[in-house]
Amino acid sequence: MAQTLTILGLESSCDDTAAAVVRQAGDARAEILSSVVFGQTELHAAFGGVVPEIAARAHAEKLDVCVADAMAQADVGFGDLDAIAVTAGPGLIGGVLSGVMCAKGLSAATGLPLIGVNHLAGHALTPRLTDGAAWPYLMLLVSGGHCQFLIARGCQDFTRLGGTIDDAPGEAFDKVARILGLPQPGGPSVEAEAAKGDPARFRFPRPLLDREGCDFSFSGLKTAVLRERDRIVAEKGGLTRADRADLCAGFQQAVVDVLAEKTRRAVRIYMAEGPSRPLVAVAGGVSANKAIRARLETVCAAEGASFTAPPLPLCTDNAAMIAYAGLELFRAGVRDGLDLMARPRWPLDRAAAGMLGGGKKGAKA
Ligand code: KG4
Ligand code: ZN
Repeated sequence: MAQTLTILGLESSCDDTAAAVVRQAGDARAEILSSVVFGQTELHAAFGGVVPEIAARAHAEKLDVCVADAMAQADVGFGDLDAIAVTAGPGLIGGVLSGVMCAKGLSAATGLPLIGVNHLAGHALTPRLTDGAAWPYLMLLVSGGHCQFLIARGCQDFTRLGGTIDDAPGEAFDKVARILGLPQPGGPSVEAEAAKGDPARFRFPRPLLDREGCDFSFSGLKTAVLRERDRIVAEKGGLTRADRADLCAGFQQAVVDVLAEKTRRAVRIYMAEGPSRPLVAVAGGVSANKAIRARLETVCAAEGASFTAPPLPLCTDNAAMIAYAGLELFRAGVRDGLDLMARPRWPLDRAAAGMLGGGKKGAKA
């Protein structure tokens, strides 16, 4: 029977400051004792995107409050913890540094072990936290900064099957929202508009479907939406509500179609390995999208694999996934010292390190 572990996790790699406490009693399913997230949406609203310097300052200001809240809500003291896990990359370097410095301070003051966690591993291990998923499973990680397929074989063992060669899908949602004058983050606002629109009115491109493999491209799609908007504005002098909803619906449908077809291909590669209980999991902010979740579930069912998507608060950035990843790393014997580095780039699959696929936003993996 494995030891009971209680881990504090910190996350500050983009525009959410988060702290959480996760406990795993022996081999039982891990439990989230608390998960506190301070979003920064309003701070960046006037700029149309995340401003790294503003993000870093806000993280530095909010981290200790976040930690105190997470500890209080979990009803634990530092003496109840086994380790402190912190996102050490990839991400906006100022934010990652804020988290790493805070975690180092806590570790130095309490004597608790420090564990640097890859933010992508946090997302990629979420199905183990939520569903107790067994290795290996296929992960589609889709967020504002990332888009890749990974076969997850262990907490430090990932094989990358493909990814985006330019933008990440969340980035495309955010840019389309900006093009159409919708609020940030773009994913939820575009999804809400799309629900009111006709996905068949505009036929946007399905990039890279004609090319073999599991790579994606989303930047042309966003440009196609921009061109269509400009054409309508030139013709009619502006966009009606219906135009906007139809543009969102057409764009979202194109993303759904591309993700579905590439997932079908990735599932076939994964299934060829003969997993005994094939499982496909999606994670990252874009996995909150209902149309995407529903379509991926259909694809997986057709291919004979189970499908899981996180509950909505665990789709977007949070510290419970970092605490959980830290817990798995702790069990694997990983410990970092006070020389832990903050890394702007940190690919999960080291063998595929030279490949594209991180998305352009924020120079990530
Ligand atoms: O995982 P996340 O919180 O941060 C990164 O690591 O990037 O993902 C944020 C991204 C944003 O681009 C946001 O627009 C997108 O996830 N997103 C969505 C939805 N909710 C959030 N995209 C599509 N549909 C949604 N419902
Ligand atoms: Zn993320």
